[in-house]
Amino acid sequence: MQVVYFVNSGIEANELAMLMARLYSGNLGMIALRNAYHGGTSNTIGLTALNTWKYPIPQGEIHHVVNPDPYSGIFGSNTALYAKDVQDHIDFGSSGKVAGFIGAIQGVGGAVELAPGYLKHVYDIVGKADGVCIADEGIGNDFPLGAVVTTPEIAGVMALKIQFNTFGGNLVYSVGGLTVLRVIDKQKRQAHCADVGSHLIGRLRALRERHDSNYS
Ligand SMILES: Cc1ncc(COP(=O)(O)O)c(C=O)c1O
Repeated sequence: MQVVYFVNSGIEANELAMLMARLYSGNLGMIALRNAYHGGTSNTIGLTALNTWKYPIPQGEIHHVVNPDPYSGIFGSNTALYAKDVQDHIDFGSSGKVAGFIGAIQGVGGAVELAPGYLKHVYDIVGKADGVCIADEGIGNDFPLGAVVTTPEIAGVMALKIQFNTFGGNLVYSVGGLTVLRVIDKQKRQAHCADVGSHLIGRLRALRERHDSNYS
């Protein structure tokens, strides 16, 4: 991935990513996870699958698939069944082709871990249906900064018309974004999250063993 489009927010990044997915694939339908938040503009409100965030306006051609939550999801941690739900939406609710899939962090829906290997399964399925896969994640740490990172081939579709963004990639926010990346590297935040996260999950699993649970 060698092309980065800078915008001002996560919502704008999702709007642009969805536009690219639709132009690149030549299809309209987007697949999104139930329980996930992707924004409140007219297109991203369609992607969002939480009724508390959805105003009654046209939502576009969006397929909301079952949330692959390994703890309280309807299929437990059975990744194959969640992946089958995605395939079913493509087979029975679309022309057999889709523009793309958006997923990863669910935002206001919570920090929900996905069933093991879910994204790999789903990316394969969506790729076979000609769709592109979008990972919706944050950037900027409070700076109004968003980015769409993609391949030159996909970005090429934007050359057909003019795309303009007054403040996207402006100097102040770019310096802010760069500083955030430097701090993440310097403080080894990714390794720290992996350490603390695995420790927490390990201890929570141990607690689950010791106490009755309704979840498998
Ligand atoms: C997963 C996710 N996508 C998109 C957004 C929208 O980002 P923004 O508020 O920067 O427009 C958010 C915001 O919290 C989010 O959590």
